[in-house]
Amino acid sequence: MILRARYEQAASPARECGPGQIVADEKLCASASLAMLSGPTLASHRNQAQVSQYRPLDPALFHVHQNRPMSRTYNLAVLPGDGIGPEVMAEAIKVLNAVAAKNDIAFNYNHQLVGGAAIDAVGKALPAETIAACEASDAILFGSVGGPKWEKMPPNEQPERAALLPLRKHFGLFANLRPGICYPALTASSPVRADLVEGGFDVLCVRELTGGLYFGQPKSRTTLPDGDIEVIDTMVYKKSEIERIGHVAFKAAQLRNKHVTSVDKANVLTNSVLWRETMVEVAQQYPDVTLAHLYVDNAAMQLIKAPRSFDVMVTENLFGDILSDEMAMIAGSLGMLASASLGKVKGDGLYFGLFEPSGGTAPDIAGMGIANPIAQILSSALLLRFSLGLEEAAVAIENAVRQVIGDGLRTGDIFTGAPGTRKVNTTEMGDAILAALG
Ligand SMILES: NC(=O)c1ccc[n+]([C@@H]2O[C@H](COP(=O)([O-])OP(=O)(O)OC[C@H]3O[C@@H](n4cnc5c(N)ncnc54)[C@H](O)[C@@H]3O)[C@@H](O)[C@H]2O)c1
Repeated sequence: MILRARYEQAASPARECGPGQIVADEKLCASASLAMLSGPTLASHRNQAQVSQYRPLDPALFHVHQNRPMSRTYNLAVLPGDGIGPEVMAEAIKVLNAVAAKNDIAFNYNHQLVGGAAIDAVGKALPAETIAACEASDAILFGSVGGPKWEKMPPNEQPERAALLPLRKHFGLFANLRPGICYPALTASSPVRADLVEGGFDVLCVRELTGGLYFGQPKSRTTLPDGDIEVIDTMVYKKSEIERIGHVAFKAAQLRNKHVTSVDKANVLTNSVLWRETMVEVAQQYPDVTLAHLYVDNAAMQLIKAPRSFDVMVTENLFGDILSDEMAMIAGSLGMLASASLGKVKGDGLYFGLFEPSGGTAPDIAGMGIANPIAQILSSALLLRFSLGLEEAAVAIENAVRQVIGDGLRTGDIFTGAPGTRKVNTTEMGDAILAALG
């Protein structure tokens, strides 16, 4: 049986009927109330009519096998990268080793250089051996890349541009899933006013990752005859790419509160007009899921004003890059949030994917041993879920994280000095999660 962690939160479902206009949705309130009746919860809330339920994504709806053979060895490409990457990766590996021991499986880790570390060692942010190791793996566990040391390099050779974007393109990692969870115990870490995040929230941001402005051609920088400089980036989307990411969002919503908010700029961009038309078409195949549209500027506001009004948010590459970071910050800390970048379904019915924290290399705290390892550890849980089909192990990690947060352990980024909490460093947080795994 698949164990389901359950965490409830206050929710105020909303729809945009026109720019800036939000109304409550009765159907969603009704389904949220039903969900509330279905089992024990980890948090209680003031407004039961608005309670919704967090459930981990069910791999079944993503065509993922749930009963994996035991006694199996999985090949993982491990790319710690730069800054805090190696520090938090060490904690994730500790947790994965514990998972292996408990589940009679083994992980064969293939550690490879990437980013600034690879530039320093072999002169290239994404060496051929690193790509080869990833190709030979079941999944990629990625830290983060970049930092001030490499910022003076030509832009195309800098770690993020020369490592992360090519990796996404090479493996066709088109769907970036970023769960933005604000745990009820951590609402004080959110920079947003307490009443706006009371009870926590849970938004799943689904970002298209291989199209749009980041990859569109032409791109150029030209000095004009009059000495002025002209730069061009091109936003390109095919309808098929929009459909593909739309299906991921709607399938995810079917397992949650059955509401998709599609974010675009259809009042200005031709790209967004097709985006909106296509989302409406995809929605016809999911009659149990409601669809709303928000312009990106309004979405940025609503995320702060009413984060609980979102269930699944789907958007294109650039908008998703910005909104998912905003969502992460409102949730408390970048150090808490994992992400999964999914590509093709492999022969075994599982996704090939790259799993990484939402944040970057945090140069301001790198080397100090104080980074929050939770985003990296939760990324390894997503890896177990989507690329290895080990749902129970993924849920066990997620529950262990919830437990240590509930026990009051806090790294510096989420420490507010609240009574009953204790400041810990990176290793201590990793050890506590390990202990909570049992
Ligand atoms: N996917 C990636 O590899 C990725 C993503 C974003 C940024 N970057 C790179 O990282 C470098 C730094 O970028 P930035 O400063 O804009 O963003 P950042 O995410 O590295 O840091 C922003 C803030 O969040 C904090 N933070 C992030 N992760 C944390 C953690 N696990 N624990 C505690 N605090 C944490 C940092 O200390 C900092 O104050 C840049 O070179 C950037 O290009 C890489």
